[in-house]
Amino acid sequence: MQHLKLDDVMNMERRKRATLINYLSGFKSANLIGTKNSTGQLNVAVFNSVVHIGANPPYFGFILRPVNVPRHTYQYINETGYYTINHIHKSFYQAAHQTSAKYDTDVSEFEAVGITPEFRGDFFAPYVAESHIQMGLELKEIHRIECNGTFLIIGKILEIWLPDNSVTMDGHIDLSQQGTVAIGGLDTYYEAHKLNRLEYARLQKNA
Ligand SMILES: Cc1cc2nc3c(=O)[nH]c(=O)nc-3n(C[C@H](O)[C@H](O)[C@H](O)COP(=O)(O)O)c2cc1C
Repeated sequence: MQHLKLDDVMNMERRKRATLINYLSGFKSANLIGTKNSTGQLNVAVFNSVVHIGANPPYFGFILRPVNVPRHTYQYINETGYYTINHIHKSFYQAAHQTSAKYDTDVSEFEAVGITPEFRGDFFAPYVAESHIQMGLELKEIHRIECNGTFLIIGKILEIWLPDNSVTMDGHIDLSQQGTVAIGGLDTYYEAHKLNRLEYARLQKNA
């Protein structure tokens, strides 16, 4: 087996290290985060770090890289308090990936990569029209992570948009049927296939 120690990892070329370490946390969620600033400039970018924080009330978090360069998603969320999280569907993963390029502030990635901003009701931030599963969130907390200067951004889900009949009586969504993709590393997109759905695990009683 290959054995890599911390020194080996730290001596790797920067991009190789970033790629490897990103792969090692496993399959990750694939989302576009949509924002708008106070002058109406739209922004959308791909994120693979969205995690469930809690369900009661519903909180999601995501990790934001250090802000030593302009980070529009961070700036706009900080400024306005609202953002959307949109599942990346297999029909538009290439365009979703392209949103990670460093576009200037006055460029909307929506226009630049050819995906469609969608405003729903009076929600402030833009959804991604092509996305089948969309959530509107309100910023709750920003935590700076001391060991590397990244941020954990936590938001409360205020609304959810899903296709009709996509949620079962017990709250299950078949993500593969919905066409939601997963991400490996920072550049590989996977289509998921369900193995099985299991019962809630309980201690087994001795017969
Ligand atoms: C597959 C993929 C996943 C990414 N995930 C994250 C992430 O979780 N956190 C982050 O800060 N940047 C992440 N990025 C980088 C951002 O997409 C990139 O910095 C983008 O330019 C941010 O746009 P913004 O300045 O408009 O916010 C990811 C990039 C790719 C290609």
